[in-house]
Amino acid sequence: MNPESALLSDKNHELIDLYTGIRDFPEDIWELYSQFPTTKKGYYEIRDSSVNDLDLSQRAARTLFLNRTCFKGMWRHNSQGKFNVGYGGQDRRWVISKERLYEVSEHLSHAKLRCCDFESVVNSCTKGDFLFLDPPYCPGEKEQQNNHYTFGCFSYDDQIRLSNSLQRASKRGVCWVMTNSSHPEIIDLYEGYSCFSIEKGTGGSPGLLTQDTGEVVVYNLLED
Ligand SMILES: C[S@@+](CC[C@H](N)C(=O)[O-])C[C@H]1O[C@@H](n2cnc3c(N)ncnc32)[C@H](O)[C@@H]1O
Repeated sequence: MNPESALLSDKNHELIDLYTGIRDFPEDIWELYSQFPTTKKGYYEIRDSSVNDLDLSQRAARTLFLNRTCFKGMWRHNSQGKFNVGYGGQDRRWVISKERLYEVSEHLSHAKLRCCDFESVVNSCTKGDFLFLDPPYCPGEKEQQNNHYTFGCFSYDDQIRLSNSLQRASKRGVCWVMTNSSHPEIIDLYEGYSCFSIEKGTGGSPGLLTQDTGEVVVYNLLED
């Protein structure tokens, strides 16, 4: 959509550092990213090295490398908060071109980036704002598994909190679109809103295109 001004937020500081790095230092990121190793051994060396002494560009280039080289582009942390996804194999490396990285940087130049919980951002939206939400695809309350994005757990209570905040936003005249799991307990939270299934996507199998996504798009239709 490339709006004139935008706010992107996520609770994962490594993701926000990645976007901030690409926005502000695309040349440095490209230079560092292109120098990373292409072997399995090299992948594990970078993955297991300490990030404490790295500056923003180095952290962002490392996250880009891990995301493009790990198994199915997944993001998962162990109990000590360290990224622990295995090597994806050379055939799965999703190369990004210099041109594409610069393009993303240009798009992000109109964006504010914030590392925080979603609720304060949803609450700050006012009439005329457009909100896109892509929460973790946790299934229903009974089958919660954390095998996709596990930077902290997105519980069923968080899903309820999200639904309530979107309900309040709708009343303020905020227009929103969200992707989420098609689990009946999630759908139940959005009674009265518009909803359709996504037939092709990556929801059921992160990083790979699949026919059975288990995902829906939910949105509000505002009356003038
Ligand atoms: C399906 S992913 C969306 C990925 C993201 N749109 C991107 O640019 O790659 C779900 C995201 O929700 C984030 N998340 C989990 N709990 C959150 C919370 N309470 N508030 C805000 N973001 C959260 C995760 O860190 C993860 O990046």
